[in-house]
Amino acid sequence: MPAATRTRIPIDYASYFSLESKYRERSRLKEIKPFSEIPGMINFGVGIPHPSTFPVDGMTLSLPFVGKSVFVPGYGTRTPEELQELAPYTPTSKTEALNPDLAEELQYSATYGQKHFLSWIKEHVRRVHAPLYDDWEVCCTAGNTDGVDGVMRALLDRGDHLLVEEFAYPGLLSPAVSLGLKSVGVPMDDKGIVADELDRIMDDWDENARGGPRPKLLVLVPTCSNPAGVTIPVERKREIYDVCRKHNILICEDDPYCFLQIRPNDAASPIVPTFLSLDIDGRVIRVDSFSKIVAPGARLGFVTGPAPLVEKIMNTRESATQCPSGFSVAAVSAVLRAWGSHDGFENRYIPYISDIYSKRCLMMIDLLKQHVDPGTIEIPQPSGGMFLFVRLKIETHPDFPTLSPSIIAKRVFDTMVEEKVLAVPGLYFRAPSLDALTPEEEARKTFFRISFSLPPPDVMKQGVERIGRALARDWRL
Ligand SMILES: Cc1ncc(COP(=O)(O)O)c(C=O)c1O
Repeated sequence: MPAATRTRIPIDYASYFSLESKYRERSRLKEIKPFSEIPGMINFGVGIPHPSTFPVDGMTLSLPFVGKSVFVPGYGTRTPEELQELAPYTPTSKTEALNPDLAEELQYSATYGQKHFLSWIKEHVRRVHAPLYDDWEVCCTAGNTDGVDGVMRALLDRGDHLLVEEFAYPGLLSPAVSLGLKSVGVPMDDKGIVADELDRIMDDWDENARGGPRPKLLVLVPTCSNPAGVTIPVERKREIYDVCRKHNILICEDDPYCFLQIRPNDAASPIVPTFLSLDIDGRVIRVDSFSKIVAPGARLGFVTGPAPLVEKIMNTRESATQCPSGFSVAAVSAVLRAWGSHDGFENRYIPYISDIYSKRCLMMIDLLKQHVDPGTIEIPQPSGGMFLFVRLKIETHPDFPTLSPSIIAKRVFDTMVEEKVLAVPGLYFRAPSLDALTPEEEARKTFFRISFSLPPPDVMKQGVERIGRALARDWRL
């Protein structure tokens, strides 16, 4: 071919994009990233686990072709000499749960997951959630983002409506838009979504007016929710469940913070019963993750629900992630085994991890009480997890109602940034609503999200003092 014709042909890539790419939305949380980069900023914006909570902080890999073992450092183990002593190893039977073996783990596995790991998960589900029906199944995922993606792809089509919490996790709202789904926020109070409001939305649903069929799926975060920090009490769960039965709605419980809930007597108190444990019909798909209790980088989780639904979710993963990461399954299995399988997980490991976050949560509440004028904020009840959703008492602000709640909230954010402290405006989590709110109603729904999972205690104190200063300035106190 002549050289002249071999120059680069310009390609209009946009003309190749799928509908999904065209409509793909990134999380609004990325908008606050530039503020987090301001030198000296105290960041209460990110809700990620502290690396000191990772149960693996160093490892060695035995590499046959190079003829040596290599060390990989972690948070607390920076040199090979600091590695924990190697425990004696006794080979175990192939049928036993938590029996990782790299000869098998590094091979392709069933999309559902490796047998020994699945058998541990199934026993875990029986012990913790005790499903009330028999034909339930579990399928491993690459975490809850992956699990919820599988649920949406398995059940919904472009143009469908999706019921979500009024203040919802952006990692749900943005992918829903990319999949062509229309989210509908269900109003919430301090106990989660309000069952009567869900009932009203469904009773009033007019397919022509709404431009789509009746919603058939509700996705919510039942424990220490993100952003609202709410754990739905069991009575409210029953009410929501009954409304879902009435309107034939499936429930997806995205529950990564389940084991970080504050319990009155730690491991001796049961967790709040989950939707899965209340489910008599087989209408709940539970989505679990090891991200918050082991490490987000493990990218490991599982979905549990009626076998026919889980099979469809598994099919979506088969053509995406194909099967869980063998390295992750091996490492997480080894950790769970070392802690003493189910008994150790429930009675020692979970209390150990959740205690770290519970203490931080309660410390943050104390700091807010000490350093922020009570006329400016309403402090929520602590439930654990990683977030507090703090209400701004807009109704007491000197510029309300001359200025709208959203303008006041924006000013508060700007003043906080000037004081070098970052929290996320509640607006970023707001799902599309069917109701128009009055300024007074809007004022009662103006929040900011504070994450307490990462900063050390002295930084937390400094950050809350800055919040106090910012709000005092804004309220002209
Ligand atoms: C409510 C909620 N769901 C899902 C996720 C993502 O979890 P995973 O790391 O398991 O994908 C998060 C993490 O921030 C979350 O807050």
